[in-house]
Amino acid sequence: MTLAVENVTVVFGHGRRAATVLDDVTLAVPKGTTVGLVGESGSGKSTLAKAMVGLVRPRAGRVLLDGTEISGLRGKRLTAVRRRVQMISQDPYSSLDPRMTVGRALAEAADPRRADVRAHAAAITRGLEAVGLDGDAARRHPHQFSGGQRQRIAIARALVAEPEVIVADEITSALDCSVQAEVLNLLADLRARLDLTMLFISHDLAVVRHVSDAVAVMHHGRLVEHGDRDRIYRAPADPYTRRLLASAPSLPKEAS
Ligand SMILES: Nc1ncnc2c1ncn2[C@@H]1O[C@H](COP(=O)(O)OP(=O)(O)O)[C@@H](O)[C@H]1O
Ligand SMILES: [Mg+2]
Repeated sequence: MTLAVENVTVVFGHGRRAATVLDDVTLAVPKGTTVGLVGESGSGKSTLAKAMVGLVRPRAGRVLLDGTEISGLRGKRLTAVRRRVQMISQDPYSSLDPRMTVGRALAEAADPRRADVRAHAAAITRGLEAVGLDGDAARRHPHQFSGGQRQRIAIARALVAEPEVIVADEITSALDCSVQAEVLNLLADLRARLDLTMLFISHDLAVVRHVSDAVAVMHHGRLVEHGDRDRIYRAPADPYTRRLLASAPSLPKEAS
């Protein structure tokens, strides 16, 4: 399933306080591929993610899922689309309700209208096992897990909804290096196995190079460059992309 935005503009606030956070953004994430979205903090990456999953309404432009516009959907039809496009956010601790068992959080993802742990027991176990956690995890609460495990739970929760598209927003940014690598490997494995389409957002250029087929570069709410991953890292065309790559501490310099 291909997820795309066309000429999307997002404005927050009104009147003299209005701020254009996304300015005429056009980007496609073709089925089965991963597009990495990079850009400094505040450039609008999370806002684009939210617009793509229907959590932020664009002032102008269209969000398309396999060619169907989702920006105008409401009620049941919006709910159905939201299931197929799952967002995993940067802070699993705030996105997982601390009072809810992991099982219940996953049951809710499986069926928002009837979040019944027993009814969805098999799906919950499958989801947890897919991310390398024991089925017993379902009975526990988020605070009983490490940061890396919570991020796995957030991924499991997204998977239980059987999505075709995943929007992953800085999902490894809060993790230690070794845990980060584990989560990335897990994600790569799931992506291949489930043929997922993914928008992978990170300010870490090395991580994005590792996971993406194509890369899009955001600067002050605009996409300044978008193209094949290797081409962008080898020969960035836009001056901003060049600055961003040159200043990335984590990026091994190309031997040339
Ligand atoms: N709900 C909101 N209301 C007003 N401004 C917002 C809101 N969400 C984000 N912003 C502003 O939009 C800009 C882009 O934010 P964001 O999309 O979170 O960037 P990034 O994810 O790249 O760090 C920032 O200036 C931020 O302060
Ligand atoms: Mg963000």
